[in-house]
Amino acid sequence: MDKKMLRDIDVSGKKVLVRVDYNVPLDKNGKITDDTRIRATIPTIQYLLKQNAAVVLASHLGRPKGAPAPEFTLLPVAKRLAELLGQKVEFIDECVGSKAQAKAAELKCGQVLLLENLRFHPEEEKNNAEFAGKLAGLAEVYVNDAFGVSHRAHASVEGITKYLPAVAGFLMEKEINFLGQAVSNPAHPYVAIIGGAKVSDKIGVIGNLLKKVDTLIIGGGMANTFIAAQGYAVGKSLVEADKLDLARSLIDDAKKSGVSLLLPTDVVVADKFAADAQAKVVAIDAIPTEWMALDIGPATSKVYAAALGGAKLIVWNGPMGVFEMDAFAKGTEAVANAVADACAVSVVGGGDSIAAIEKVGVQAKISHISTGGGASLELLEGKVLPGIAAINDK
Ligand code: 3PG
Repeated sequence: MDKKMLRDIDVSGKKVLVRVDYNVPLDKNGKITDDTRIRATIPTIQYLLKQNAAVVLASHLGRPKGAPAPEFTLLPVAKRLAELLGQKVEFIDECVGSKAQAKAAELKCGQVLLLENLRFHPEEEKNNAEFAGKLAGLAEVYVNDAFGVSHRAHASVEGITKYLPAVAGFLMEKEINFLGQAVSNPAHPYVAIIGGAKVSDKIGVIGNLLKKVDTLIIGGGMANTFIAAQGYAVGKSLVEADKLDLARSLIDDAKKSGVSLLLPTDVVVADKFAADAQAKVVAIDAIPTEWMALDIGPATSKVYAAALGGAKLIVWNGPMGVFEMDAFAKGTEAVANAVADACAVSVVGGGDSIAAIEKVGVQAKISHISTGGGASLELLEGKVLPGIAAINDK
């Protein structure tokens, strides 16, 4: 992926439209609960300001279904961004139209303008050419720094690149470097950890990883389906009964391709799905009929940690158990610590694994924490992301 980067072009004195992913979580009062995605774009914005460019920012927030919705306004994001940048951020309550055009036209070098939510217009998600052209009309150069939405062929992600020179911002560059490397040129031993509730959400990722990794570690609810596929009774654990054959064929594929597929040998079971449930550790051949597995057990954690200890490259997506409940968080925490302690390039994606990394407090020891959920999974599946493909080649 030899794509043109921001440093490859001259932006001084130019008007630059930057597509960012400010799809941040908000509480019921509209307060931003996690500003990671805003912080992640600061290097690109600061660089552009230093180059004396005028910066027009465009983003979506939530899924407002193509119509204005006050709960999805980007106004709170403009305020937070101003605090983070330490300078004024202009905000305009539309993204295309005469007001946006006038505001962008009068924007001076060194100034920042954030447009209102792109998804207030159905044309954004339809990748409408006219809409993309109107957005492009606000600037002279396009920078894509929105890795999190680069798996969507939307007007501000893909269509707009037909009208303006298109380069990757620093966040996008970092994501491409770390995740792209894991896909196209991984260091070995390469250990991937895939967790989360369902196998069905990650079939493509597991299939593609089996072609690349030396060791694949499985945890979380999806591990129950693998346990059941090996013929063990799993009691009341979450299992995808229609995916047992698939799990068996993945186990076979791993054997054929010489990948060490690590599955739990013990689990933490509970008598109900609740933080105050009774809990105990059992081997996978002794899961009581009325109980459910909610975490990997300590023997499994030890094996997983040992495998991670020898890795040169680690990719992690998805928790090992119901880590929001302390009684079932130990497996995920053990994996988070093992990833952090490994002498490896470590790449972590997915909201839950990132939350686990933060809970354990080892963020600083992770090489790259991806800002893309769906986008990072699609990249790991081996898919070409339309937003990356559309960036100009070098
Ligand atoms: C995300 O949060 O994964 C991105 O912002 C994409 O959002 P979407 O799934 O609504 O397209």
